[in-house]
Amino acid sequence: MRGGAALNGTVRISGAKNAALPILCATLLSDGASRLRNVPALRDIETTAALLRFLGRGVTVDAPEVRVEAGSDIKPEAPYELVKQMRASILVLGPLVARFGRAKVSLPGGCAIGARPVDQHLKGLEAMGANIRLERGYVHAEGPGGGGRLRGAEIYFDIPTVTGTENLMMAAALAKGRSTLVNCAREPEVEELGRVLNKMGVEVTGAGTDVIHVVGVDRGELDPFDHAIIPDRIEAGTYLVAAAATGGDVLVEGAELSDLEALVSKLRMAGVELAAEGDAIRVRRPGPLRPVNITTAPHPGFPTDMQAQFLVLMCLAKGESVITETIFENRFMHVPELQRMGASVALRGNTAVVQGVGHLYGASVMATDLRASASLVIAGLVAEDETEVRRVYHLDRGYEHMETKLARVGARIARVKDAES
Ligand code: EPU
Repeated sequence: MRGGAALNGTVRISGAKNAALPILCATLLSDGASRLRNVPALRDIETTAALLRFLGRGVTVDAPEVRVEAGSDIKPEAPYELVKQMRASILVLGPLVARFGRAKVSLPGGCAIGARPVDQHLKGLEAMGANIRLERGYVHAEGPGGGGRLRGAEIYFDIPTVTGTENLMMAAALAKGRSTLVNCAREPEVEELGRVLNKMGVEVTGAGTDVIHVVGVDRGELDPFDHAIIPDRIEAGTYLVAAAATGGDVLVEGAELSDLEALVSKLRMAGVELAAEGDAIRVRRPGPLRPVNITTAPHPGFPTDMQAQFLVLMCLAKGESVITETIFENRFMHVPELQRMGASVALRGNTAVVQGVGHLYGASVMATDLRASASLVIAGLVAEDETEVRRVYHLDRGYEHMETKLARVGARIARVKDAES
């Protein structure tokens, strides 16, 4: 891509990856045919579909629509080959144990952004009576008394975890009696799963707050559902930051200001103008960028999934800003790549001190994880000369047709090789 073009026009936001993934896993709780709409065409969706098929489901992916129905016999086992491609595969654990009384799911292991343990998921299932064994890299989970039905429980999370909360909501949906989940993740994607479980016939209240109540259904399975996935707030936030970085005037369609409050408030402090227009957000940057400090935190705090993109923006501001990452211990992999483009960033533990340089140079850089890749693309959009981002398969995990969406608003960007380059 060749930097320097201001972005102008309209970008339409796709459905939320991190809402679609748990909802796809929730289809395991029913044998009926379910339909998901507004599903983004992404690699993580394909991986989840492959996992559900491996488990014995019939899955048709025709983005933006996905249909799931009962297939052959269920095989409640998620192999390492699939789980290592996508950590969110752990989301089948809760539904499998709740529905079939047993599951064998590969432990996800570490990943580029941190160790990311799943102890909270396992502790919660144990509180519901599951017997958990870790053996040769796999979690073996069994309902009480050798495959029986889970029991509703009061579960306290030591830290708010998004997929942990989702896993246990799904497990509780078929458990005997009432469950109370305390210190839950409050992300909009958790709330969205609550809406879908409601459609499936489960009494779930409080999803989106830190205490969730679930009344388990006694019928052994849930109803199928038809549901359109909410827009992806992180994709929306990424385009807001891209437009703020390049300047211009962009309408980001399908974006909710209320889901992006922390980002919006920081962008405004940095000198960016944002206004809600119906179901869209208009973004403009009338003058120079000002430095702003951010600290990532669970929702409604500043999202860790927007940290890398915001850091690039701060490289363009005049002055010093401090970026603190509190969710993942290794989420500054974009920094060395940005330094190759002329950024001045000092890393001290979980803090990045950015000296705005106002200007970046094009370079050949390497994507390391999904959000880091997005930050390198934003850097390339403003950098002098040409930037080449390699390993764009990371980008394809979470951004639908990013280069097409950006080109439509004036970016000089093209995919030169296919995803595996
Ligand atoms: N944690 C534990 N024990 C657990 C679970 C989590 O210590 O059992 C820790 C994690 O290591 C981390 C913190 O708790 O330090 C929060 O992690 P969380 O469990 O909330 O993360 P996640 O559920 O694995 C989801 C998103 C991520 C996003 C994080 C934080 C999905 C599928 N993934 O991950 O999205 O960064 O929440 O908001 O919803 C992305 O889309 O690029 C992405 C990485």
